[in-house]
Amino acid sequence: MLLKNKKITGNISLHGDKSIAHRAIIIASHFPGIHIIKNFPQNNDLIATLTIFKQYGLKYKISKNNIKIDSREISLIKQKINCNESGTTARLITGYLSGANIETMITGKKSLLKRPMGRIISPLDTFGVNIKGFNEKLPIQILPSKKIDNCNYIVDIPSAQIKASLILYSLHIKGKNLIKGKIETRDHLEILLKDLGYPIQYDQKKIIIDGKGNINKNIDITLPGDISNASFIIAAAILIKDSNITIKNMCINSYRMGFISAIKKMGANIELMNRKIINGEKIADINIKYSDHLIGIKIHEKDVPSLIDEIPILSIIANYASGETLIEGIGELKVKESNRIEAIIQNINRMGGNTSCNNNVLKIEPKKLYSTTINSYGDHRVYMTFYIVNMVIDGEDKYNSKDNIYEKSFPNFLNIMEKVFI
Ligand code: S3P
Repeated sequence: MLLKNKKITGNISLHGDKSIAHRAIIIASHFPGIHIIKNFPQNNDLIATLTIFKQYGLKYKISKNNIKIDSREISLIKQKINCNESGTTARLITGYLSGANIETMITGKKSLLKRPMGRIISPLDTFGVNIKGFNEKLPIQILPSKKIDNCNYIVDIPSAQIKASLILYSLHIKGKNLIKGKIETRDHLEILLKDLGYPIQYDQKKIIIDGKGNINKNIDITLPGDISNASFIIAAAILIKDSNITIKNMCINSYRMGFISAIKKMGANIELMNRKIINGEKIADINIKYSDHLIGIKIHEKDVPSLIDEIPILSIIANYASGETLIEGIGELKVKESNRIEAIIQNINRMGGNTSCNNNVLKIEPKKLYSTTINSYGDHRVYMTFYIVNMVIDGEDKYNSKDNIYEKSFPNFLNIMEKVFI
């Protein structure tokens, strides 16, 4: 597994977490003021969210890695907005604008028009929002309703985007709003609102939000490093001999820790240090060393939301373990930027692997893999996953220079890989 004696090494920091950043932009836009978000990641998805609020009057200035947001002149008026390729933007913004009860047309690029939106249209519809999708997909039209009700909903898909969409709806609706059901998913919005002093209470069973509340301070938030982006570097370090790297100030929110827990269980040499809490989020430095003797494991459906975006890269690590790995309940992977189940299986098997899926259980049986050109299926995480595999196999970075899909979430991916792979 080692050619050219290169290894993953260094002491690095990554740009801020994409999920928290989306939420921070929306919250900074909702509460008039001059806010600052530090370690802001300028990826395409976040530019989509920012551009929408700019249409409503948001002013912003990015300098170095910080963004200063002036939301004092925002006015939510009739608009046609475009979420580009960002599913998180589309779902969060639909809930937010539905609560504002203004005429809106929400659309996106071709790839986004294929993704399911019924999951948010349907709860909003039950609250009396005048909302229509096109076959439960974008474009979505919202027309003002005479009356919209408080949110009172039992979430039946464990999706943080649905939960966040409902919380953002609730911000506009006076009185108590209640969310129950499958809400054990990333809780960055709840944490952010609570940290800002907003009237919200939550535990694993329910969220209660007072609508039309206020916050008592300007937002000054430092985003922790994006653990989903880190997972690619972590995988390379685990699989390339003599690697030893520390990634500082990473988000270790418990609902994002599924990947780290899984690789620990597989026997990866990984350590969390300097734990602290910043803006309510748990943060730590992560040290990873080359790990031979990995073993296959079984991941249960209930743990899938905490590693949902890391399943492609985890399936690669599993391919280098001894014994099979099973990941149960991965149906949601079919509706990400690509059908990730198909993308994982086809790419791994094209490389000589033996991966399959039955009844939403992904089975990875370790086999020797051979490098090949990357087929990203137009999906940033698939691209980065198979870039890493090629690097592990050939000991050199190999990329399809025409495919820049990774810029959706990790624009400096290639630069970082070049910097740490020496
Ligand atoms: C996200 C939640 C996840 C994840 C996506 C970002 C978020 O989607 O896959 O990349 O920021 O809330 P689901 O909540 O639909 O699983």
